[in-house]
Amino acid sequence: MPTLATTVNGLKFPNPFVIGSGPPGTNLSVINRAFREGWGGVIAKTVSLDSSKVVNVTPRYGKLYAADRQEVIGWENIELISDRPFGIWLDEFKKCKDSFPEGILIASIMEEFNKDSWIEIVERCQDAGVDAFELNFSCPHGLPERKMGAAMGQDPDVLEEVCGWVSSVARKPVWAKMTPNITHIEEPTRAALRGGCEGVSAINTIRSVIGVNLDTLRPEPSVEGYTTPGGYSSKAVKPIALRMCMEISTLIRNEFPGRTLSGLGGIETGEDAAQFILLGSDTVQVCTGVMKFGYECVKPMCDQLLAFMARHKFETLEDFKGKSLPYFTTHADLVRRQAERKAAQKAASAVKVVKSDGEWSGDEFVKQSDALSRG
Ligand SMILES: Cc1cc2nc3c(=O)[nH]c(=O)nc-3n(C[C@H](O)[C@H](O)[C@H](O)COP(=O)(O)O)c2cc1C
Repeated sequence: MPTLATTVNGLKFPNPFVIGSGPPGTNLSVINRAFREGWGGVIAKTVSLDSSKVVNVTPRYGKLYAADRQEVIGWENIELISDRPFGIWLDEFKKCKDSFPEGILIASIMEEFNKDSWIEIVERCQDAGVDAFELNFSCPHGLPERKMGAAMGQDPDVLEEVCGWVSSVARKPVWAKMTPNITHIEEPTRAALRGGCEGVSAINTIRSVIGVNLDTLRPEPSVEGYTTPGGYSSKAVKPIALRMCMEISTLIRNEFPGRTLSGLGGIETGEDAAQFILLGSDTVQVCTGVMKFGYECVKPMCDQLLAFMARHKFETLEDFKGKSLPYFTTHADLVRRQAERKAAQKAASAVKVVKSDGEWSGDEFVKQSDALSRG
């Protein structure tokens, strides 16, 4: 029987499915629910030291439906990080670890560009018993107006410095959560890993405008008639997330062997997860999928991933992690490979013709195949 159990940065996950930071990990009650349903780990909603600066609005979600108007394929949100007091969160982290000592509880943290603040938030969370950290350098809306979130994640120098502050005091593994709102995701990833993070998570949401209401002419989600660009998630972002995970895994293999990747963006099935692992992810996260299908979706996802492994006779996740990475190359190389294949095919059919005519000779074969490969 294949196993989904995996150890990543020393953390023992019963399966690779981790709740991504957001509404599904917004308080103790739902985090406990996730562990009861069998999630491999939970990344809580992002916390900061002073929640009084975090003021949410409603509505804060916008949805894109498939042509059948039934299925949500894209989801925009303008939700901020947690607006619940930090003290309450610390208490909830402790209670959660008391109830689920084996559960992997990861604190997602965000602060302003201030060394003392980052050190304080790390120390207080680890004293409360969390197992690891995810640094939110990637929320694309609201927080960047305070030079936080994606504003930090888009600046490799700032990123490296902050990761260095965190790594200097963290006694637990640290993952940096990367923004897709950048041209080359390798640059901030390299900075985070140079700064000492054990791994990265990718991707956070893609800056977006979900649509414009054709009756009111107002862009959505409309708050008192106005909006601000938000973060796009769900199924529609999976191809972009896969591309970025491929780029990050390749960088990790070449420059930072041993560091890890937690892949996310549009994962809803075990088959989606298999694709992220084939492109080098150690764990996979699900956020919007849980909002669409409920916490219990982890069970079919585990079954589907196990079925995929059984079909290919993979015993462990390690057996297929990164297995599809060697099949990426340049476009020029695709052209060369295709030309070679066509030439070989023509040569093979020339052999058949010559043989069926019963006139095969070494010289003629060489002449004919040369002519064919010249087109
Ligand atoms: C409503 C909502 C709130 C989110 N809040 C956070 C957050 O507080 N911190 C964070 O790091 N990511 C947050 N995210 C981003 C998700 O963790 C994830 O990176 C992104 O949605 C892509 O994955 P998905 O398609 O599985 O949702 C949020 C996403 C949504 C939809």
